[in-house]
Amino acid sequence: MYEKEIERAAEHFKQLLARQLQRSDRIKAQGDFVDYTKLDRIVIGVCGGDGIGPVITAESARVLAFLLKKDVEAGRIVFKTIEGLTIENRIAHMQPIPDDVLAELKACDVILKGPTTTPQAGDGRPNIESANVAMRKELDLFANVRPVRIPDQGIDWTFFRENTEGAYAVGSDGVHVTDDVAFDFVVTTTEGSERIARLAYNYARANGKDRVSIIQKANVIKTTDGKFLGICKKVGEEYPEITTDEWYIDITTAKLIDPKRRRDFKVFVLPNLYGDIITDEAAEFQGGVGTAGSANIGKKYAMFEAIHGSAPRMVAEGRAQYADPCSMLRASAMLLSHIGYIKESEALDRALDICMFEEAAMKITGREDGCTCSEFGDYVMKTLTALQEGR
Ligand code: IPM
Ligand code: MG
Repeated sequence: MYEKEIERAAEHFKQLLARQLQRSDRIKAQGDFVDYTKLDRIVIGVCGGDGIGPVITAESARVLAFLLKKDVEAGRIVFKTIEGLTIENRIAHMQPIPDDVLAELKACDVILKGPTTTPQAGDGRPNIESANVAMRKELDLFANVRPVRIPDQGIDWTFFRENTEGAYAVGSDGVHVTDDVAFDFVVTTTEGSERIARLAYNYARANGKDRVSIIQKANVIKTTDGKFLGICKKVGEEYPEITTDEWYIDITTAKLIDPKRRRDFKVFVLPNLYGDIITDEAAEFQGGVGTAGSANIGKKYAMFEAIHGSAPRMVAEGRAQYADPCSMLRASAMLLSHIGYIKESEALDRALDICMFEEAAMKITGREDGCTCSEFGDYVMKTLTALQEGR
């Protein structure tokens, strides 16, 4: 019974296995992180994406150029605009990232990327992979780092979401074995788990955080989550000054809303899908996904983005110019620190705290009763100038 179907699915699985085994070998062969301080020239790719993406990305690039003015003039920092990562162009090429766009991305050192529209199974559009997910894989951006801070509540969380494996590794490559039975696959590798764990523990050590929480569901997803947990714990043993604890994802979502307990969390390390879900929840405490930036870090490349989507409805309703750039500006601050501009990064974060929460002289509502994206950008730059002048 079902011999043909089983054979077809097994053939599909065989191909996935071959590709994942090769990927695991490639990770093993990888060198160390780029040292940006040693580069004479850093190319920042500005890739708007679609929906509100181009508006908020261009605005963030304007603020970055303002902060890096001296080095832009000296030629050390070069901005390069990359077009073509729109849903229309991706569908026209039937590729999550068209080849020419990918080549341009690979010619950059770091990338500031706007949100991109992701077709969802059954929405009538072709089943192309998310551009985000494809870029993370293509550039091997294995760590998705997402900070959430609410100082007056004592919340200071940094999430280290594994970004290339888990449920996402072959997320667009599942198989309908028959009309009735569908399979997806989850992939965990030793190298993939080790490198994200090491980054999380190194961050904890360098920033004086005394706790790392490993989030998983190893009681049910025993093989892959079990492996992730085991490897993270082993890496943790090399950091005796840091307390490691382990939490299942379900209870973690509950504890994050427990005001008495949530302050105890500091650094989280977690597989891809749990990281996706819980960072939206975490960002909500801080004021929503519109307030949170995200770094996608690999050994050779890094990409910085908002954690929210492309809001096509805002564009359809003619409101794109009112889009909120704060998440992209937070991502820009992460970009600055990643390439070694620590002072500028701290100044931008400080200016954003003032503009978003403390002074908040301008409100973004997404509509005409609020300020526009570029008015907010001006406000941030004015605040940066005031900070520089010590006002
Ligand atoms: C994110 C997003 C993406 C993800 C989507 C757009 C594919 O939700 O960056 O968190 O699931 O990773
Ligand atoms: Mg998400």
